[in-house]
This record gives sequence, C-alpha cells and structure tokens, in this order.
Amino acid sequence: MKKLRIIIVNICRLLLALTFILSGYVKAVDPLGTQYKLDDYLIAMSLSDYVPDFVTLGGAVGLAALEFSLGIFLLFSVRRRIVPRLILAMMVFMTALTVWIYAADPVKDCGCFGDAIKLTNGETLAKNIVLLVCAIVVARWRKDMKRLISKSNQWIVLNYTVIYIVLTSLYCLYALPTFDFRPYRVGTDIKKGMEIPEGAEQPEFVTTFIMKKDGQTKDFTLENYPDSTWEFVDSKTVQTKAGYEPPIHDFSITLNSTGEDITEAVLSHKGYTFLLISPHLGYADDSNFGNIDQIYEYATDYKVPFYCLTASTEKDIQRWIDMTGAEYPFCTTDERTLKTVIRSNPGLLLLKDGVIIGKWSHNQLPTTDELTAPLGKLEIGQMPKDNTASRILKVLMTFVLPLLLLTIADRMWAWSKWVRNKEKSNKLYQFFKNNRKMRKKIVAGNWKMNLNLQEGVALAKEINEALAAEKPNCDVVICTPFVHLASVAQVLDASVVGLGAENCANKEKGAYTGEVSASMVKSTGAQYVILGHSERRQYYGETAEILKEKVDLALANGLKVIFCCGETLEEREAEKQNEVVKAELVGSVFHLDAEAWKNIIIAYEPIWAIGTGKTATSDQAEEMLAYIRSIVAEKYGKEAAEETSILYGGSCKASNAPELFSKPNIDGGLIGGASLKCADFKGIIDAWKK
Ligand code: PGA
Repeated sequence: MKKLRIIIVNICRLLLALTFILSGYVKAVDPLGTQYKLDDYLIAMSLSDYVPDFVTLGGAVGLAALEFSLGIFLLFSVRRRIVPRLILAMMVFMTALTVWIYAADPVKDCGCFGDAIKLTNGETLAKNIVLLVCAIVVARWRKDMKRLISKSNQWIVLNYTVIYIVLTSLYCLYALPTFDFRPYRVGTDIKKGMEIPEGAEQPEFVTTFIMKKDGQTKDFTLENYPDSTWEFVDSKTVQTKAGYEPPIHDFSITLNSTGEDITEAVLSHKGYTFLLISPHLGYADDSNFGNIDQIYEYATDYKVPFYCLTASTEKDIQRWIDMTGAEYPFCTTDERTLKTVIRSNPGLLLLKDGVIIGKWSHNQLPTTDELTAPLGKLEIGQMPKDNTASRILKVLMTFVLPLLLLTIADRMWAWSKWVRNKEKSNKLYQFFKNNRKMRKKIVAGNWKMNLNLQEGVALAKEINEALAAEKPNCDVVICTPFVHLASVAQVLDASVVGLGAENCANKEKGAYTGEVSASMVKSTGAQYVILGHSERRQYYGETAEILKEKVDLALANGLKVIFCCGETLEEREAEKQNEVVKAELVGSVFHLDAEAWKNIIIAYEPIWAIGTGKTATSDQAEEMLAYIRSIVAEKYGKEAAEETSILYGGSCKASNAPELFSKPNIDGGLIGGASLKCADFKGIIDAWKK
C-alpha cells in the first residue's frame, strides 16, 4: 500500500514538475508575450489603467521564473516543505482563475504555455483540475518524494535555476525569444499562412427574423419564414459554429499617405522588403533610431521597399518623425498583429518574396558593416538554416548538463557516504574486512612532565572543543600529570575525551609520602592510567613485580590500564624483542583473569623509538602487535585477543599515523610529543578518518 502511494506521489510530482517547467520556460523565453497576456487579463478585469507597464513586465518575468523554478525544485525534490505548498497555492489560484475564464470567457486563450501550446478554456480547466489534484497529493505526502540531490547540495540547484531563468528572460527581452512559437517565425510565407485550405470547415450562422402581426411579435427562421401577412420588424444573426481560422488572419497593411491597402502588393513583391514594426511608436525604444535610419538609407540605395508598420496615432507618428528624422513611409496594421509579429518595439523584419527571412530586435539590428552589398549577395539576404536543434543543444549544455553532472556527482558522493556508514555500522563487514571485530580504536595522549596547570587546562579545553565539533572515528584519551587531573576533568566532556593519569602508586594508601593512589586518581574523574611506561621502568626502577601491584590496584579501583611494553635497541638488534615483550606481559598482566583482562589496553612502545623521531616501520610495528595478539590469544583465547586494543607508541605523528593505523593489528597510538599541541594531536586522531 505504501509502495503504491509512493509511486502515485512521484507520478503526480513528475507531472506537476514537467508542466511547471514547460509553462515557465515558454513564458521566460517570451517575456513580452507573457506581459501582453497579463494585459489581456487586466483589461478583462478593467484594471489595466491602474497597473503600469513596468509592473506587468516585471510580473511576467517573475511569474515565468517562479513557475520554472518551482518545477525544477519539485523535480529535484528540494525544499520539500515549502515547494509543494507554493505549488498547491498556485494551483488553487490558477484553477479558480480558469473556472472564471471558462464561465465568463474574458480571454480566448489562457496563456498557460505562451504561444507554444494553445488550449481552449475548457481544456485548460480540465488540465488545472488534474494538476490541482496532483498538487494536493504531493503536498499531503511530500515526504514520499524521492530526492534527486542531497540536502547539503540543494542550494546549488536553487541558485543556479533562479539565476538561469531570470537571465534567460532578460536575454530574450534584449534580443528576441530564443524559441519563436508564433505564426510569424522566420521561414513563414505570410500569404500562405493566410490561406484557407479547400474543404476547410466553414463558419455557420443562424439568422432569426422578428415579425409582427395583429400586435403580436414572433421569431422565425429561414425554414419557417411566415407569409406576407406578417410584417418584418428586425433580424439577428448569430454564429453557431466557428469555421477554420488560418494561422495568420489579421494581417493587413494600409498606407497612411493614401489610405490604400497595400497588403497584396507587399506580400507579392518579388524581392526584398524591410518592415519596421512598432505597435506603438509612443512607447517605442528610440535609442537605436540611427541604425534604423542607416538601414533605410541602405534600402533606398538598393531600391528595397521599406515601410514602418504601426498602430500609432498620427500624433505619435509625427513625434517619432520629429525625433528621429524618419523618412520612410508609415502604414497602419492591427496592434495585436504587430505585437505578435515581433517581440520588440521597434523590431525589423526582412521579407523575400513575401517570406520572412530575418527578424531583429532594435538592440541587434544589422549594422552598416554588414550591409555592404545588395541583399542577394549578403548572408542576411539568404534564408537562414534552421538552427532549432543547435538552440535546444545550447539549453541542454547550459542548464541541463551542469545539473545532470551535479546530480551524478552528488549521487556518487551520497553513495560513498552510505557505504562508509554501512561499513562503520556493519560489524560483520568490519570483521571480514579488518578482522577487527569489536575492538576499540584508541588514540591516547601522554603529556609526560610537560605543561603547567593553566597550559594543561587550556590544551584540554581546545582538544575537547575540536572533537565536540567534529566527532572522531576513535576513542580519544589524554593522560596528564596528577596535578592536572581534577581541573582537566572539569573541562572535558567524558563522552568525547577520556582522561587518564600517567602513573599510580603500588600501595593502596597510607604513609607513602609523595605517592598518589589509584583510588585518588579515580576520584578526580579519570578513567585510565598508564602503567609500565619504559621511562618509569628505566628512571624509577619499576620492576615487573611493582607494576603487577599497580595494575591490580588500578583495576580494583575501576581504572582501565594502558599497559606499556617494548624492547631496547640492543634487545632488538639481538632479535630478542618478542622474548622481552612477552616477559613484560607475563610479569605484570598475564596473571589477570579474563574479566579483568577486558580493562587492559596494551601499548607497544619500542624504547628506541620513544622521543627519538625514529619510528618503527609500520611492518615492524604490525609484526610485533600481531605477535602480542597471538600470545594474548594463547592466554585468554582467540576471541578475547580479537577484542583487545593494542596500540603503537614511539614518534607517532600525523604524517605516519595513517600508514601505521592501516595495519590490521594496530588499533591506535599512544602519543607523547605530538599530543602537546591540539592540531598535531587532532591530525593523528583524524588518521582514523582516512
Ligand atoms: P613520543 O612518546 O610520541 O614522544 O615518541 C611516546 C610515549 O612515550 O608514549
């Protein structure tokens, strides 16, 4: 059931999205046409006198951008909360409007798809009812819409779409519509467009006669026309069926100077004719009149007829002549027809044998550099090749392709993220991949005898903030001198950074001046303690036996022990490293039972690598850690060994950590020098993200 609902919601979404994109785009490429349509509505509502032109033009650009953008947003399913609601609001408004149009018939064509697709008012109403239902479905179950792009990247789609569509409108205003859906596109034979084909449907009319006899009036038709005793009063003729209407039906040219209809003469003229088109010279843009005059001069030189077709008053024509010095003849043509012919006021048309072969906005008129020879010898005098395909390609390359590439990149990114999350959450996958079943990855810092209290607290704070802002992929612990512990515990969020001591006493309590017990460490809020570090063995004479006591007390007080082991350089050179390490473990921790073992973390630190800048190679470290795991397995079983975290320590830094941590047996690091600066320490922690 839910699946079916998801399918229905997404079909509705697609239907709405494609309709909005199409209707927005065809409006955007013809902003003037859209403005004219808005004017029609305002006239029908008797509001046209109150709304200035710039408002309707702005409204046209805005409406196109809104429809197109909402369509794209819905297609990509971005802003799922607001977009479906806006679309629903628009559909409610549009449907109400079309009910009115259907009932009152104030405009012939709703203008939903500009001039690209013409629908009757009934068809528009049906279409809007279907879309309204779709909009309700989508708004109700908006969360069922599948996203095409992740939330974090949706801003790119939002901005790119709005910028693209507004720029498209502005360009089409400056030039001419990129796609011309009107009956006067380049290549049109105007005369042919006016023809009514043979056998075309004829319009039908019915005439009613109102007759009177003996003071009584009655209606008759031709079929039941009465005898002569009835006296004729009036007659009414109504059209009952519209006949075929040719695509061009209101095109006529009347020469103002003589009042002569020259339509036939112009359209049948063999050769070229320039038609300067201006529905209203009063509103025409006069910034390029110099170019127009030059073209007129050129036309006169080469005997090409040149007319200005306008629906302006004599006064406006005279103003234009005074302003521009125009010498060309003026003709009258229907205003609506002129607005349909070219979306530029003024605009220029070039006819050859009555066929439109060129159209220019006043911003892109041919220049004198181009008009150097008779038209027959110039490129602009030839019928241009149909470049619709290349224009469609341009749209695809500039809008569709970038969005498509963005979507592919985004999906790949989302997919890799999904895989990463899956890996993290899928323990079985982890087991097979890394053989690191439940093992914790740990990066622990060992500050040693560095930093005073204030410096230590500041560093702890900094580390805590950095890791709270960007969750690490491992457990992080900082081990500090005793005096820092209580204060540092205050600034750490224990769920982000763990805290440990660097040592504890081998006595429980009592008269041991200068010592700090495990229970005291625990009471500060610390959870870990480092024991068996080579520096303590070397400088403070800590033997395996003493360490054993310390380990027992630490565990008894609820601390986790990071137990260090490692060989000297001589021992390694003598190839005694395995023996030494095993002896250290056996001597101090292998007496523990399986339960206590769970709180032991081993840190292998070859003494020759500590603080020397000399790191064991990742292979050397891996070899030793694998060995340690094997002896843990011998003692506590394979499963316990798999769960024991074993760290490497000794000159570990951000640059070598990724390589070290990539080894299957290395579960993290115990870091000395590089744990004293937040950035260095974080660099090592981040190695787990690579
Ligand atoms: P180091 O010290 O990172 O400065 O070499 C490691 C340690 O002693 O724990």
